Amino acid sequence: MVSDSSLAPLPSADRPDVAAALRDALLGASFTADGLLELLGAPAYAALARSETVPALRATRGDSALEVLVRLFLLQQPVLHARVADVLPLEACLEAGWLVRAGAEEVAATVDVRPYGGPDGEDWFIVSDLGCAVGGAGGIGSREEGVVLGVGGASTTLAGITVRTPVGAALDLGTGSGIQALHAARHATRVTATDLNPRALHITALTLALSGAPAADLREGSLFEPVRDDETYDLIVSNPPFVISPGARLTYRDGGMGGDDLCRSLVQQAGERLTEGGFAQFLANWQHVEGEDWQDRLRSWVPRGCDAWIVQREVQDVTQYAELWLRDAGDHRGDPAEYQALYDAWLDEFEARKVKAVGFGWITLRKTAAAEPSVVAEEWPHPVEQPLGDTVAAHFERLDYLREHDDAALLEGHFKLAPEIVQEQVGLPGAEDPEHVVLRQNRGMRRATKVDTVGAGFAGVCDGSLSAGRILDAIAQLMGEDPVLLRDRTPAQIRVLVEQGFLEPA
Ligand SMILES: C[S@@+](CC[C@H](N)C(=O)[O-])C[C@H]1O[C@@H](n2cnc3c(N)ncnc32)[C@H](O)[C@@H]1O
Repeated sequence: MVSDSSLAPLPSADRPDVAAALRDALLGASFTADGLLELLGAPAYAALARSETVPALRATRGDSALEVLVRLFLLQQPVLHARVADVLPLEACLEAGWLVRAGAEEVAATVDVRPYGGPDGEDWFIVSDLGCAVGGAGGIGSREEGVVLGVGGASTTLAGITVRTPVGAALDLGTGSGIQALHAARHATRVTATDLNPRALHITALTLALSGAPAADLREGSLFEPVRDDETYDLIVSNPPFVISPGARLTYRDGGMGGDDLCRSLVQQAGERLTEGGFAQFLANWQHVEGEDWQDRLRSWVPRGCDAWIVQREVQDVTQYAELWLRDAGDHRGDPAEYQALYDAWLDEFEARKVKAVGFGWITLRKTAAAEPSVVAEEWPHPVEQPLGDTVAAHFERLDYLREHDDAALLEGHFKLAPEIVQEQVGLPGAEDPEHVVLRQNRGMRRATKVDTVGAGFAGVCDGSLSAGRILDAIAQLMGEDPVLLRDRTPAQIRVLVEQGFLEPA
């Protein structure tokens, strides 16, 4: 149980009527993601995402309804209650605790409310603790362990990579502000949201109500504890407290288990909570330990009966990592000697665990009945095109295809070049032949892969009409090669092109 004794009381989660009236008022004043961008302008809007409020304060010195709401709910400014009464159902908001009186003439918000645009243009609102709508706890200087943050880069990354096929039951583990539960409510019949922190569950209820989404089944507890033994889910998502730190201080980020044990436990325990074909998707941090391959470490986490796709997006050495999270907590702004001692503690912890660096990435599991599940652990630090949910689902579909087709069957297959693939030739200027040829995707993972002349020619011809074998025979004839040898050696290359999404089974 997380203590929230010194945090401000929250609005009532039992007044859906007030949440609905407040929602109407917010929408009526264009307090939406688009409205905010228009009012603030791109630089001030972007500055907010960096926890810098001065540009937004300067842009909201007027008296419009929208300016009043931005000052109240995003910038934590008290506003004259006569002015607020013109914009919101003031008395109801005071009564339900969304607002409190501040002095004789003003009122202030009790929580941050940030407009958030859904994938289909929905106008949603994310509720979080005061000062937490943007940036980390460093932005608010809060040291309260139970503080509930709003939307961060990690939240939107997970929302973007989540597979969005319609499902029956979804579980958002470590729900925080409720952003993942809100997304899940669009395509899951039932959403369960859990958190160790009861304040987070309360805030999730507010986020859902204010966004006009159905209520979720809210359960308090650690990891899978709140899930009954007989319960399974079609989708599990978690942006867990993945930070590998010397001690548990902030519940939203420090898991309180040693090293990367929390992420490992989450992944290992997810297998038996999934229905057949169900996905579990996590953001995670993992240790790079001296003398150990990070891929082997991650492969050992994958539970039995699950395919896995693990993507390492970034690696930081231990000093960069410690500094990142010291800053996130605002520790760099305190006493320099205290900062040094904290920094030292982080490095001591890594030294004791023989950790050289920390990897950050995505882990997707899919429950499978296949005799030999597939586990792919790869490094892809390059920009991708979000949302990636469809790309993730397609990755697993292609795995199924490859698993079901041996080389002979692959040569019988028909393939299409995926949309928006280009060929790049790399070599010295003026040289007659390129040193190598690269196929590059402009969509999804935006992968690039080296191919030989046969691979490039093969991919170029794939429009689904001829079988792979027939295409190779034609290429053999053109190049004066033995068709049998070509049929023998090319399936490996075709497999890579299919696995990575350059070719799609037609
Ligand atoms: C990084 S925040 C993610 C919040 C939100 N889901 C998002 O995507 O922005 C992690 C959340 O996990 C919760 N948490 C911390 N330890 C937990 C545990 N052992 N079991 C379940 N939830 C936990 C924290 O209270 C926090 O709300």
